[in-house]
Amino acid sequence: MQTRTDAVSAAMDDIRTIEADLGVTRAGVEAIRDRLVELSSNRELFPLEDFPHPGEDDAQSSLLYRLAQDADDRFALYAQSSRGQVKTPAHNHTTWAVVVGFEGQELNRFYERSDDGVSQTHEHMVQAGTGVAMLPDDLHSIHIEGPALNFHCYGLALERLDEREYYNESEGNWKIFKSVSGIREARTGLQSC
Ligand SMILES: [Fe+2]
Repeated sequence: MQTRTDAVSAAMDDIRTIEADLGVTRAGVEAIRDRLVELSSNRELFPLEDFPHPGEDDAQSSLLYRLAQDADDRFALYAQSSRGQVKTPAHNHTTWAVVVGFEGQELNRFYERSDDGVSQTHEHMVQAGTGVAMLPDDLHSIHIEGPALNFHCYGLALERLDEREYYNESEGNWKIFKSVSGIREARTGLQSC
């Protein structure tokens, strides 16, 4: 277990340095993505049984496990474990965001704003060895069919992101996501208080 803690900690140290050196730029977030792909290549550090996905009877189809987060809530890393049937509308993050695959597949579709909402620009199937990187205003949606485990990393913890916009297709307008709650603690060596 210490090995996972050390590996995650070393990756987050590098990611802080990358952001400091390259800033919140396309090159910066792509370098962060590449560092997380490297972390995820240590497959033995992340046994699937440590990150069970919700059961069929659970209301939610995916769960987030917190792997890293700074004391000021910056640089948050999560493992997202899904049983499948996960779908989000097009949304931004208001901070940089990276998704890296580990097990299964997560289709990411990317959009630009248009007069009548959003229009898709491209897509990328996130799976082991690949990932996507987004600047704060970039728009994507995720689509997961079957069981999947992916890493999600953000410049600021999800609970702090209370101005993320999503496009509500049925109403034809932009709305604000509720901030995320119910994240499971998966950091090791933390004192409970
Ligand atoms: Fe997202």
